[in-house]
Amino acid sequence: MRINLITLFPEYFDSPLSCGLMQKAREGGLVDFQLFNPRDAATDKHRTVDDSPYGGGPGMVMALAPLVDTLRKIPKPGRILLMAPAGRPFAQALARNLAADMVAGTPLTLISGRYEGIDARLLELFPITPVSVGDYVLNGGEAACLNVIESVCRLLPGFMGHENSGEEESFSHSLLEYPHYTRPENFAGHIVPEALTAGNHARIAAWRRQESLRITLWRRPELLDAAPLNATDLACLQNLPRLSLGRNLHLALVHYPVLDKDKNSLAVSLTNLDIHDIARSSCCYGLGGYYVVTPLQDQQRLLAELLAHWTTGAGSRSNPDRTEALRLVIAANDVAEVIAQVEARCGERPLVLGSSARPEGALTYRDVREALTKRPVLLLLGTGHGLAPTVLEKCDGVLRPLRGASGYNHFSVRSAAAVMLDRILGDWH
Ligand SMILES: C[S@@+](CC[C@H](N)C(=O)[O-])C[C@H]1O[C@@H](n2cnc3c(N)ncnc32)[C@H](O)[C@@H]1O
Repeated sequence: MRINLITLFPEYFDSPLSCGLMQKAREGGLVDFQLFNPRDAATDKHRTVDDSPYGGGPGMVMALAPLVDTLRKIPKPGRILLMAPAGRPFAQALARNLAADMVAGTPLTLISGRYEGIDARLLELFPITPVSVGDYVLNGGEAACLNVIESVCRLLPGFMGHENSGEEESFSHSLLEYPHYTRPENFAGHIVPEALTAGNHARIAAWRRQESLRITLWRRPELLDAAPLNATDLACLQNLPRLSLGRNLHLALVHYPVLDKDKNSLAVSLTNLDIHDIARSSCCYGLGGYYVVTPLQDQQRLLAELLAHWTTGAGSRSNPDRTEALRLVIAANDVAEVIAQVEARCGERPLVLGSSARPEGALTYRDVREALTKRPVLLLLGTGHGLAPTVLEKCDGVLRPLRGASGYNHFSVRSAAAVMLDRILGDWH
């Protein structure tokens, strides 16, 4: 199986392709590498391969002609990948796909850029996929190329000693791999987990699966989106510490002081749907509390009646699930009272964050998640046309507005709450 490498520094590959399993694979004839230097295709006496960029700016750009001539010289380039920080993220799924193509007889051609990159028209002339190996910038594509080479080659049948080692590894089922241990069992008081040393294979398998889930949830939660999970996996995820992150979050739906459409500050009435739906979302994400804030006595009586119906009255008998959600609801006169209540419950003053559909805030959902690992957070949601400036001014920070793909961002407060909760606490954040 053939891999073509286009690089201005062929010597860069000498050592990595000449040791360990890669050397064995080359010696055994499983994979072979052909190196092409675009400098060999340069026509002037200085063997120039770069030029200054159109539009100005620092650095040089790899010129088209030497790259085009080099690519045309390769009899069968097969799949062509360009190493580029702006490319599609290189991942195990693509490695698997490229390895399968190689097994089916399609070679792989990898282009390493240098300088500021290559003349973009190369992508118009050849079917090239730009790939990035991470959100950082390297001096050149050679180090990136080695990532691609190693990840693809170790999936070629015969490359690794035992055929199924690739199956168990990180990313093979959209999960990160469980931790490994070897002798001694006790190293200066650091003990190997008992589940691995008791000799019970079913227990070992269960422990490894749980660790995979735990590590994936902790470090790369977005991977869980594509992971095939069974009921046991889901039960395990539900018991992991993510929920305690939710318990640190408290929502307050503020009905005064909020704005009307003319930007006057006023009190608005409660909405049954907001009370129910935000309570249900809060319950789904395991929140510490959901406060409904209104100073109006008649509105407080209405809220008490509604909550009584669902938590102790007829509603609780007909729909106990709703009871569970509505038990989270706490009435409060104003934001100061909410802050005091959260402080009393958590033993610490919460970080108070506002939200607004207007571009007033800079905090990201990741910032909120980060804050939740350290202290309680109270997130204020405004009814009417949003929280009054007098409330926002007193907040410790304001969240960025939610943005859809269009210019329209008039979410109902209950929809906004659900989207925010998922961005802050969902697997995919
Ligand atoms: C100094 S970098 C050019 C960076 C480019 N000006 C930018 O900001 O995107 C030179 C070459 O290194 C390679 N390279 C750098 N970082 C990379 C990454 N994260 N993934 C893939 N290739 C990378 C590319 O081939 C690139 O053309």
